[in-house]
Amino acid sequence: MPATVVVGTQWGDEGKGKLTDLLAREMELVVRYQGGHNAGHTLVVDGETFALQLVPSGILYHHITPVIGNGVVVDPKVLLEEVDVLQTKGVDTSRLLVSGNAHLIMPYHHELDQLAERYLGRNKLGTTKRGIGPAYADKSSRIGLRVQDLLDEKIFRQKLDVVLKEKNQLLAKVYNRLPLAADDICDLYLGELAPRLSPMVADTVGVVHDALERGAHVLFEGAQATFLDLDHGTYPFVTSSNPVAGGAATGAGIGPRFIDEVIGIAKAYVTRVGSGPFPTELTDATGDVLVERGREYGVNTGRRRRPGWFDAVMMRQAVRLNSLSEVALTKLDVLDTFETVKVCVAYEANGERFVHPPYHQSVFHQVTPVYEELPGWQTDISGATELADLPEAARAYVHFLAEQIGVPVRLVGVGPGREQFVRFAA
Ligand code: GDP
Ligand code: IMO
Ligand code: MG
Repeated sequence: MPATVVVGTQWGDEGKGKLTDLLAREMELVVRYQGGHNAGHTLVVDGETFALQLVPSGILYHHITPVIGNGVVVDPKVLLEEVDVLQTKGVDTSRLLVSGNAHLIMPYHHELDQLAERYLGRNKLGTTKRGIGPAYADKSSRIGLRVQDLLDEKIFRQKLDVVLKEKNQLLAKVYNRLPLAADDICDLYLGELAPRLSPMVADTVGVVHDALERGAHVLFEGAQATFLDLDHGTYPFVTSSNPVAGGAATGAGIGPRFIDEVIGIAKAYVTRVGSGPFPTELTDATGDVLVERGREYGVNTGRRRRPGWFDAVMMRQAVRLNSLSEVALTKLDVLDTFETVKVCVAYEANGERFVHPPYHQSVFHQVTPVYEELPGWQTDISGATELADLPEAARAYVHFLAEQIGVPVRLVGVGPGREQFVRFAA
């Protein structure tokens, strides 16, 4: 199996960091293919917590080459700060590579993300305000600056001068803000950041293909998730990249025939941060239990995540969109205290029943979930290490989910620690 993709199947924060870290043992390369520092991926190793934003989750292993692919948007300041934090924790970051074709997040991207959200008022998307959308917009408009531009001062200044003219007009005339000075940006990006970043800049497409050609196992680590995907998510309440498994092909430079396996990661319930539709959302005391037991607060932004029951309708769509080979289910332990647990098996709207999400958003926004209620297990499962350790009702819950979505569940998470997974075969 030379190439595996790990992809979020819900609205993010499913535990991609933890699963990537677990699988990285058997890999040589771990490659991020989209998103930026809007991601927050948590690894818990021997009680120590690592919160990663841009650095791939394989970084903790000495044998791994972590790669930031061309599809990622990179804020070089944030990346170097993250590297510094890892180094102070004793992590060797010297193998980290960054694609020269990845686009840079610039200071005006941050500012415009914040201003756009403020101007949207009640209609805001609830972005992470990291400049992600504006950076991808400039990439599509073909006025973006790329990581490789940091290595050529003349080109960097030329491109910046052109783009800053337009951005400063926008900042001043639309948003009534002060213009940004090209010299200040150059001092930071070329003077401070480029010298430190340049040793990491590489032809990552070449690196990935060389690895695949020698039979090395490469892991592609998705950020965000299927329903935050720009094309397939709950538009406009999405991110500006393609987290779905197909995004690994464009975001890392491999043809689709290279992908051998796609592991979908799902929480045993669902959470969402920011605005947008969420059919199984719980705004009651049950939701509070999920948030408190699951510690559902954003890794970077600290925002409370919105909780809800597991949604098999959305999950069936995620199976299709990603061609999932299997599912890793996380946070089953968070459901430990419930007397009963619910699973959404279909939607209803206007007298019609849906087993896949209706494509039209006007219908999607109106759906009511149809639930099946299953017995809870009311047992602490956080110490489980094998299938036999899980209570019958917990196993039945996982079997039920697997049956509903039509894809095997192979791993079940029972706690945040690297070892807190049970191998399953449902
Ligand atoms: P990611 O963005 O998909 O990598 O996920 P996050 O790191 O944002 O959020 C997942 C959170 O759940 C983190 O705090 C993890 O440490 C934690 N976590 C992952 N798997 C499990 C699990 O099986 N049980 C529990 N209780 N926590 C888990
Ligand atoms: P990980 O990789 C959860 C959400 C934001 C917002 C929308 C758009 O940790 O799962 P953006 O800043 O990307 O323009 O915001 O997407 N969002 C995430 N939600 N997990 C994430 O990443 C997210 N990255 C972005 O909350 O609703
Ligand atoms: Mg996260």
